[in-house]
Amino acid sequence: MTNPDLGLLQPYPFEKIRSLLANTPDSDKNRIALSVGEPKHAAPSFVHEAMLNALSGLENYPTTRSSDALREAIATWLVNRFGLSTPADVLASRHVLPVSGTREALFAIAQTVLDRTAKQRDVLMPNPFYQIYEGATLLAGCKPCFYAIDDNTDDNLAAIPDAAFESAQLFYLCNPGNPTGGVASEEAMVALIERAQKFGVTLVSDECYSEIYRETSGAPVGLLTAAKKTGLDDYRGLLVFHSLSKRSNLPGLRSGFVAGDASLIDAFANYRTYHGCTLPPPTQAASAAAWADETHVAANRAAYDEKYNAVLPLLEPIMNTRTPAAGFYLWPTLTMDDKEATQRLHSEENVAVVPGSYLARDINGTNPGTNRIRLALVAPLDECIEAANRMVRCLS
Ligand SMILES: Cc1ncc(COP(=O)(O)O)c(C=O)c1O
Repeated sequence: MTNPDLGLLQPYPFEKIRSLLANTPDSDKNRIALSVGEPKHAAPSFVHEAMLNALSGLENYPTTRSSDALREAIATWLVNRFGLSTPADVLASRHVLPVSGTREALFAIAQTVLDRTAKQRDVLMPNPFYQIYEGATLLAGCKPCFYAIDDNTDDNLAAIPDAAFESAQLFYLCNPGNPTGGVASEEAMVALIERAQKFGVTLVSDECYSEIYRETSGAPVGLLTAAKKTGLDDYRGLLVFHSLSKRSNLPGLRSGFVAGDASLIDAFANYRTYHGCTLPPPTQAASAAAWADETHVAANRAAYDEKYNAVLPLLEPIMNTRTPAAGFYLWPTLTMDDKEATQRLHSEENVAVVPGSYLARDINGTNPGTNRIRLALVAPLDECIEAANRMVRCLS
C-alpha cells in the first residue's frame, strides 16, 4: 500500500522527454544540453575554501534553524539587496530560515501551511510553471488552480479574478518567471499583496532567479520590498524563497532560505524538526560566504548577458523570441509542434531542449506551452552559439 495521492502526480517533464525521445534516432554530433536549468559557470573558489575550512563541523548534528552566522549573512544580504527597514538582527532571529535548496522548501511549505480539511482547498500557481508547486499541492491534499502567465507578468496577475483568491489558501508566484523570464513590477506586487491579504491567502514568492537579471533591465523588485510599500512591516502572510543554485552556480550545495512572516517561519521550523531537513555545517559555512559576496554574482550576470547578445541575433530570424528581463532561459514560439521540434533537434543535431507543453497544463483544451520550447543558456558561450547555429539549420 502507498499514499494514494502519489497516483495524482504527473510524470516529471524530464521523464516525459525520455519517453518522447526513446524511439528517436541519436545524432552522432556532440551533445549540447539546453534542457536542464543547471548552471554551468564555475562556482566561486572562496566557497570551496569556506567549506573545506568547516569540515570539522561534520562532527555535530546541525540545528533546524542553522547557525546564527548563516542567518545573519542572509539577513544582511536581504537588507542590502531589497532595502528592507527591519534591522538585520531582527530578520536573522525571527524572519529567516535556511533550507536545503528551495525545491524541497517549496514542496514542504505546502505541507506546512495548507489545511486539507478546509472547504476551500485551491492553490493558485502559474501556467506554465515549476512543477514542484503542483506536486506539493496534490500531496498536501489540496487542488492546483492555474493562472495564465506569458511575457507580461503584470497583466497576467491583474487578470486573475477575485473569485480565484476567494477559494484559495495559498498562491505561488514565480518571479522572475521560469520559463518566461518575466518580472512583475512593484505596483503589480503591491496589488497582489493587497488582494492576498484581503482574502486571507498566503503568498509564496519563488525568487530563485532574482539575481540573474539583464544589466539593462535592472534588479527585479522582491516581494518583501513591495510589502514595505503596503506598510506590512511584519511581512504577515508573505514568504520569499531564495537560492544559491542560480545566483552563485552552486546547485549541488543544496542551499537556500525562506524569509518573511515570523509565525509562518516558526511553523515551518516546527514542521522541519520532524521532516529532518537540515544543512550540514560545512554547507552552512560555504553558504554564508556566498551570500556575503556580490562580485561573483555580477560576473555571472555578465556571462549570461554575453550569451543572450550572441544567440538572439542567430535565432530571431527563425523563431519568435526575445531576451527576457531575468533568468537564463529563452521561451520562443515556433512555427511547428514543440514535441516534433524537440525530437528533430535531438535526432538531427543532438541539441537537447524542453517542449513547452511539458511545462504547462491544458486549460480548457489549450496548453500555453504548445509550439514553444524552453532553452536554458547554461552551456559555455561557444556551445550556446553552436547550438543556435544547429537550431537554425534544423528548424529553418
Ligand atoms: C522556478 C524554480 N524554483 C525553484 C527551483 C529550485 O532550485 P534549488 O532547489 O536548486 O534552490 C528551480 C530550479 O530549477 C526553479 O527553476
